[in-house]
Formats: sequence, structure tokens, C-alpha cells
Amino acid sequence: METSRRTVIAAAAAAGVAATVGAAGPAQAKGGSQKPVKKLFGKLADGTRVYSWSLANGGTRMKVLSYGGIVQSLEIPDRRGRYANVSLGFDTIEDYVAKSPYFGALIGRYGNRIDKGRFTLDGTSHQLSVNDGANSLHGGAQGFDKRVWDVEPFSKGSDVGLHLYYTSVDGEMGYPGTLKAKVTYTLTAHGDWRIDYEATTDKATVVNLTSHVYWNLAGEGNGTVYDHELKIAASRYTPVDSGLIPTGELEPVSGSPFDFRRTKTVGEDIREAHQQLLYGQGFDHNWVLDKGITAAPEQIATLKDPSSGRTLQIATTEPGVQFYSGNFLDGTFVGSGGHIYRQGDALCLETQHFPDSPNQPGFPSTVLRPGQVYRSTTVHSFN
Ligand code: GLA
Repeated sequence: METSRRTVIAAAAAAGVAATVGAAGPAQAKGGSQKPVKKLFGKLADGTRVYSWSLANGGTRMKVLSYGGIVQSLEIPDRRGRYANVSLGFDTIEDYVAKSPYFGALIGRYGNRIDKGRFTLDGTSHQLSVNDGANSLHGGAQGFDKRVWDVEPFSKGSDVGLHLYYTSVDGEMGYPGTLKAKVTYTLTAHGDWRIDYEATTDKATVVNLTSHVYWNLAGEGNGTVYDHELKIAASRYTPVDSGLIPTGELEPVSGSPFDFRRTKTVGEDIREAHQQLLYGQGFDHNWVLDKGITAAPEQIATLKDPSSGRTLQIATTEPGVQFYSGNFLDGTFVGSGGHIYRQGDALCLETQHFPDSPNQPGFPSTVLRPGQVYRSTTVHSFN
């Protein structure tokens, strides 16, 4: 059954047509490829149009917004071929603008926190936009998640995808240098979602781009992810202070709730009386990946929902991953499927350099200089 579905999907993908198998719907791509299709999603207060791009390949379907490069929905089949949207989000642009906790968004210039929004580079100190207590989070008050990106669709061989472009001017959110960012979302014939980040600058600056998809492999709005099984290839993590700023130590995970080297459920140790779990109200930490920085993406995490059989595997070139267990989802949002999102209803696995690296000489550098090209790749594979 599984094999025959895969065979049909593979054949359809190779032929570049929609496969209709099992309980397949109408002409809409089931496992085959659909070139990106653009539709008006809504308008910002100033009249700027926001578009939604739909694309599909190899059994994965996604919708991406020009606002924030947001993955508004990502649908994959369960073990019986039934599709669900496994990414939390909203139905309207108004909701994204008013209250989104970065649902599905591209994050820049700097993923996660910078202590007091301050850092010194080449002897000059910079004050960033502060938007999380005393700290700067995810690029400041108007980060890349709240910008309208230029989107260019492509199809190349058996791949379909989108190039997203955003230029952040010198001084935006306090960051030095004009930063030209290009992010490519590719859906492959295997249904993998690949993200390639690139950036250049005209003055020395810091960069740490990531993606903030909130995963629930049972489908968004279907309860918590505490039964999801998670494995992370990391022997150490970066403990934090009460403001979630790393202390600078690389702490072994061994013997602590942070040990995901063997597969365990997200919920197994989340209620342990560990100071770090109190600070984060759950998991909200950067794992130091054993593989380190790599030229090509390497497998670092596996997430599985045993009930549906849906599995997500993540490979990255980055040295860290922020595992955030949706702790601040507080029952105040109604999501795209019409259900309220509550604490633990999703989790994020944000591949990245470590938080607050600009102030941590012991962490891998996030400095980008003129003439250099920032590059980072993360691949999400689904089974
Ligand atoms: C990241 C942070 C969390 C939280 C979320 C967004 O994962 O580490 O503390 O801010 O983003 O709500």
C-alpha cells in the first residue's frame, strides 16, 4: 500500500503531473508537482498587497506569503495518505500583523536573542531595537518576519520553488550595513522542503537567519505535541539566565531533561523541576549540534507523531538548533483551522547560530563582512 502510493507519486513527479491515488481529491496535486500559483491574500494597512503562493511536489503542499516569507500552511500525508496542515498559522493578514508569535515566518537579521540589544563590532557599539523585555528578539520590533519580500517563482528540473528577496537598509532595527537577503524555498520531487539562505552586506554586521515554523505533525489545532517523539544529535546545549540569554557555557545534556540523543517524547521530562525548564517554561534552548558547522546539510533531528505516522527529519549546515516547545502559546489565538492554540500545541526547531553570539566570544561567529557571502541551508524531509 505504502510502496504502491510512493511508486505512483514518484512516477507522477517524474512526469511533472498530479498523481491521484488512494483517497485523492480532484485535479489538485496529490503527490505530483504544482508550479507556484499566486493569489491575493490581503492588504496591509498602507494598501500594500500581500500574496499567497501555492506549490506542491512529491506529496508535500505548501502556501507561502510574501509577508514575512511565512509558511501559511504545509500539508503532508499520514501513513494512510490523509493530508493535514502540520504548521500553525492564521487565515488572514490582519491576524499575522496583529498578533503572530512568528508563525511560519522567516527570521532576521538575527534569530533569537541579543543581550540588551547591544553588541560591539570592530570597536563600535550598536544599539538594536529591543522587543523582549530588555533584549532584542528575532531581529527587533520590525524584523524580517514583518517585511514584504519580493517573490520570484521557479521550476528547475523536478524542483519547484520560490526565491524571496529582501533588502534591509543600513541602520534598520539598529543593525549596521545594508544587508541583501535571498532565501530560496524548494520543494523537491521527494517532497522535501529545502531552505537556502544567502546574504551580503556593505558594512561589517551580524547575521543569523532562520525559519520559525510551529510543527504539529498530528495537524495544527489537534492538541499538544507532548506525545511526539524527538531525537536531537547534540551532547551539549547552551543554558540561559532568567531572560533566556545564554550564560556562555556549553552544558552536557547527559543525565538532564535536555538529553534527546535517544528518542523520547517531548512530554517525558518537560515537567521535571529543572531550573532551565523553569526559565523557559518548558524547552526553549539552543542545542549544540555534535556535527558543528558543515558545508553540506547533515541530519540533526527527527520528530515523529506516532498516532499519524508523520515524520519530519531535519538536516542543516548550522551549528545549533533552538528547540522551543510552544511555551508561550497561551490560548489567546484562534488558528487557521478554527481551533484555539494553547501551550505545547506545537514546537519549533529553528536551525541557527547560537543566541547572543555577538556578545559571546566562545560561540561560533555570526559576523558578516563586505565581500563575504552568508550561506546556510536546512532541509526538512517528511515520511
Ligand atoms: C523563539 C524564542 C522563544 C519565543 C519564540 C516566539 O523560539 O526562543 O523564547 O520568543 O521564539 O514566541
